[in-house]
Amino acid sequence: MPPLTIAGYALVGLTIMVAILLVVVIVMLVKAASGRGLSRKSESRGESAMLSMALQEAVTKLKAQERATAARAEASERLASQIVEGLTSGLVVVDRAGRVQTINPAAGRILGLDETAVSIPFRDALSKAPALADVIAEALEDSAPILRRTVALGGTSKPSHLGVTVSPISDANGVLQAAVCLFTDLTAVVELEEQLRLKEALARLGELTAGLAHEFRNGLATIHGYGRLLDPAALPEPYRPYVEGIRAETTALGEVVTNFLRFAKPEQLAMAPVDVRAVIVRALEDLPGAAAAVTVEGEFSVVDGDDVLLRHAFNNLVRNSLEACAAAATPPRIVVRGQVVDRDVRITVDDNGPGLAAEALNRLFQPFATTKPTGTGLGLAIVQKVIVSHNGVISAGNRPDGGAQFRVRLPRSKSA
Ligand SMILES: Nc1ncnc2c1ncn2[C@@H]1O[C@H](COP(=O)(O)OP(=O)(O)O)[C@@H](O)[C@H]1O
Ligand SMILES: [Mg+2]
Repeated sequence: MPPLTIAGYALVGLTIMVAILLVVVIVMLVKAASGRGLSRKSESRGESAMLSMALQEAVTKLKAQERATAARAEASERLASQIVEGLTSGLVVVDRAGRVQTINPAAGRILGLDETAVSIPFRDALSKAPALADVIAEALEDSAPILRRTVALGGTSKPSHLGVTVSPISDANGVLQAAVCLFTDLTAVVELEEQLRLKEALARLGELTAGLAHEFRNGLATIHGYGRLLDPAALPEPYRPYVEGIRAETTALGEVVTNFLRFAKPEQLAMAPVDVRAVIVRALEDLPGAAAAVTVEGEFSVVDGDDVLLRHAFNNLVRNSLEACAAAATPPRIVVRGQVVDRDVRITVDDNGPGLAAEALNRLFQPFATTKPTGTGLGLAIVQKVIVSHNGVISAGNRPDGGAQFRVRLPRSKSA
């Protein structure tokens, strides 16, 4: 039996009052009848029988009404809890003492909470999402609503961003009673914005620099040509190394410019369904030593993409791993793992090298960021551009047991 609502209590009170009234009436009637003498005894008995029937009828009606009210209260309570349970947004209600009153299943799913988070202080319950707790605290403190604020949860947590609305609830006297916090997972939206921003930035950079690089390459080709015309054999001995130097440098610079143009020029994608595993296997073919060092495992699926560019991207990732291991004189063990999750294929490239240096971590994907004496720092910039132009995401970090990990996510082909 659920607790009675105010209407329920009113009805019960009413029933008791009517009952008392009736008892008083009956007592008065009985007294009157006995005073009037025996001659009217049979008549009065008929009257009181009618009276008691009417009474019973009234009581039955009242009971029925009370049952109906209780049923209505129960139904509305059930509807309220169905709404809370069924909300796709996370819901956390905090009472004025700062304790969690309600957590709906969506909130549990999004934040990884269970029933143990109820009835404890909200800061403790939301210890995994302190930024969300901050927003609730702010709303409680100011007694003012917070509408659709985007909150970054920080770290590597999933979700990474929440859209949060907090409404403080006050009683008729304006005294704060509770705060109702509704939130949704905005990770996908924020990632999409970031991707778009990156795409635009890359396109702008490409436009700006492609023309310059072109000019540069033409000049370089001319110097390289003259260098080839110089015949070292016809020069006095001391000058010969200079010619070799000019040739070697112009060749190396030519490569940088070609790579930079590849990075900078607006990408024309030749889109077709591409088997990701096959692309990776072919990417390894151009790398000396890769066959013995690299394992390809897991599930890869098909993406819509440009197989030349994708091959180039995976070639660059594995090349970096091989170079890192070689620099550390570690026999390379590289694992390329595929995993199909929802509408994406996720690929990780793990190596057993020294891992990403602290100074490299923040600038990995920026053009010309390199820690290698002869590096160009264009490899990962190109990889990122290729992945982003395939509507994918790339990130990197160090594995707990050392070694670097590159993570690529590509949307699976619509036709797959
Ligand atoms: N697998 C890896 N292990 C360690 N460091 C790496 C790895 N991959 C990339 N890096 C770091 O990222 C930098 C940038 O890489 P990249 O853009 O390919 O340019 P480059 O290879 O010419 O240096 C490298 O200089 C290196 O410091
Ligand atoms: Mg590289």
